[in-house]
Amino acid sequence: MTTDAFPTRRGRMEYVCTQCGARRGVEELLYTCPECGGVFLLEDLDFARMKERPAEEWRTRFDARRATRNTALRGIFRFYELMAPVLEQEDIVYLGEGDTPIIEASPALQKALGARFAFKNEGQNPSASFKDRGMAGAFSYLRALVRMHGWDEVLTVCASTGDTSAAAALYASHVGGGIRSVVLLPRGKVTPQQLSQPLGSGALVLEVPGVFDDCMKVVEYLAEHYRVALLNSKNSWRILGQESYAYECAQWYGWGLAGKSLFVPVGNAGNITAIMSGLLKMRELGLIDELPRLFGVQSHHADPVWRYYSRPEGERRYEPVRVRPSVAQAAMIGNPVSFPRVKKLAARYTEAGGDFNVVQVTEQAIMDAMICANRHGHIACTQGGECLAGLLRAKELGLIGERDFAVLDATAHALKFSGFQSMYMENAFPPEFGVTPRPELINTPRLLITPERRAELNEAEFTAETARELARAAGLKSR
Ligand code: F0G
Repeated sequence: MTTDAFPTRRGRMEYVCTQCGARRGVEELLYTCPECGGVFLLEDLDFARMKERPAEEWRTRFDARRATRNTALRGIFRFYELMAPVLEQEDIVYLGEGDTPIIEASPALQKALGARFAFKNEGQNPSASFKDRGMAGAFSYLRALVRMHGWDEVLTVCASTGDTSAAAALYASHVGGGIRSVVLLPRGKVTPQQLSQPLGSGALVLEVPGVFDDCMKVVEYLAEHYRVALLNSKNSWRILGQESYAYECAQWYGWGLAGKSLFVPVGNAGNITAIMSGLLKMRELGLIDELPRLFGVQSHHADPVWRYYSRPEGERRYEPVRVRPSVAQAAMIGNPVSFPRVKKLAARYTEAGGDFNVVQVTEQAIMDAMICANRHGHIACTQGGECLAGLLRAKELGLIGERDFAVLDATAHALKFSGFQSMYMENAFPPEFGVTPRPELINTPRLLITPERRAELNEAEFTAETARELARAAGLKSR
């Protein structure tokens, strides 16, 4: 089988409203249902025709593409037929996203925590978070629209807690050709590293006082009244791209996810929507025999989805919450746009025999978990720490047993959130976070020799004295 050829099979895609079921064609970029204002999901009307081929044939095909030299198929579109089989090769944007590794936790860490788990390192994507998967989806579709309509200018816009904006700006600056990027950020509530990303990519970076939820309302209003391409996960092409996370998990484990539990941090709830959707599609096609267990994780400072699912069925009521400062700042969202999608898909997930849970964790647990993971060779961000804290919480609640194996979504690179690590190491958290460092996890730099002392010494004396100080600091004995 040749692995470089772009697939020829095309589907027929439609937007489907998660609220009233209305359908719309994909010639237009739509975010919400014109009938009822509900959010959309995309559906391939010919999806069931994939069943005309045995699951094994699809598995073999997706596996063979791992060796492709065709860049349009190297990233998330390795799973083209499962995601957006209406796009043409010439429109596919590939910046090296996807195909992230799943790194099993070191034996020492698994033993210390009494849990079996691995991290899927989404921080190894080009803008250092999972958002690149969605942007590859959204920008590929956008390129198709630009080509079809002959547009010479498109303004893309997103509200963000820092990672969506970094990804949107990166992809816009690479695609160019009249595509411009505007990002709207809550001032002081994205990390300096995240802020530097859209600035470096040349986007127009605008800030407002407030939180993400305020920015989201502004861009929603903007999208209603002006011609812009909204790149938040309200844009269902982003959800499609992010489904690739689920496909990669299955493929990594030889298309077997039985006995596995996937943990995902929940903010705007786009990612958990995408992962659930991807898992359901694979189950429907028989690509996997069993659905894995799925756990959403939220901080007690931003937990509307947990609050909803923590009540017994029948008594559940959705209410947005006012967020409080959270170290899982990228997920610090009180009114997730994709909540209606989660509700819909979680019901389908359960009907299909899957197990869907949401756990709540403390700020303290998130920080301890992140620091602990990274001291054992991981690159987890605070949201990755949130996932590990979620696993420990699920274990405490008896939801996870000794034999279960968890795959934790480390959604971004640790470096993006190093400020929270510094606050931990320096015991400098403002009281509203409620985080006190565990002394054994603190690590700070030590100066070996003062500038004054250094000025007194010649080069040879400086080298020898500093080496002696280093040996003393490290507890080394001389030969
Ligand atoms: N982890 C990271 C690193 C994130 O950036 C986000 C969301 C989440 C988890 C939560 O994912 O929203 O799909 O439930 N960041 C968005 C942003 C909101 O603007 O960058 P979600």
